[in-house]
Amino acid sequence: MKKTSTKKTSDAAKKTSAKAKKDDVLLERTDKVILRDKNTVLKIFGPSYKVSLILNEAMNEARAAETGLPVAKVIEVMKLRDHWCIRREWVEGDTLADVMAKDKKNLQKYLKQFVAIQCEIFKKTSDRMGNLADKLDKQISASPLPRETRYDLHMKLQSFPRGKALCHGDFNPTNVIITPKGEWRVIDWSHVRLGDPLADVARTYLLFWLSGHVAAAEKYMVLACEALKAKVQDVQKWLPVVAAAESAKEQSAKNHELLLHWASVVDYE
Ligand SMILES: Nc1ncnc2c1ncn2[C@@H]1O[C@H](COP(=O)(O)OP(=O)(O)O)[C@@H](O)[C@H]1O
Ligand SMILES: [Mg+2]
Repeated sequence: MKKTSTKKTSDAAKKTSAKAKKDDVLLERTDKVILRDKNTVLKIFGPSYKVSLILNEAMNEARAAETGLPVAKVIEVMKLRDHWCIRREWVEGDTLADVMAKDKKNLQKYLKQFVAIQCEIFKKTSDRMGNLADKLDKQISASPLPRETRYDLHMKLQSFPRGKALCHGDFNPTNVIITPKGEWRVIDWSHVRLGDPLADVARTYLLFWLSGHVAAAEKYMVLACEALKAKVQDVQKWLPVVAAAESAKEQSAKNHELLLHWASVVDYE
């Protein structure tokens, strides 16, 4: 399993995971550590995370599991030395991101699999989940865009279908694990909502761009549109709204610029 790290990881979250062996640390992010603990995974949150958001993440993971999709089930939510933690099942295997990086010539094949998994998710719905449009609305309000642009985006969003399909909300290859038997599990359901599949496709397309995988983004767009029998323009319509929403989150300066540009594009047609 690939390990990445950011230097900024808070001391507090680090201390809590200090007893863990180096090899057990799967990922360090700003104020969050993810580590393996025997046949489970612990996500340890630092003090910058609101408790309600952590509990909501666990709740969303439970809701996703209840749809019957193959996920890493939540085992417990607890406090470890003042830190909130979510413990979920460990899934043996490699993320699709690792698989793609190791076997670059088969990118198309893995992207097809990635799209097929996303379409399986879209087939599900839930009566226990919030709507994506409401979340996007709030995020647009919190974005650093000028007031007029935000107004236009709110209006645009209102004219789009709300949809009832399960949308992962952070569907990218690091959140898909392929087991040694070739089965898949999707993890990291904190952003899941019900909405229009094309909105989730637009977000995944942006996520490829933001992670620097531009060629993969374009290939993904074509494959996703084929699978959903949609026009590329119909996904592009969502881009300004989704980019504005994404700009409300912490980003690198470069990605921030990119998102603000997308958010300001009036029409792609
Ligand atoms: N249940 C799990 N089984 C195996 N690996 C996992 C599991 N949960 C997380 N990981 C690894 O840790 C990484 C980060 O976990 P994730 O929950 O996606 O955190 P984040 O919200 O920071 O993206 C994943 O990309 C994966 O490599
Ligand atoms: Mg993740």
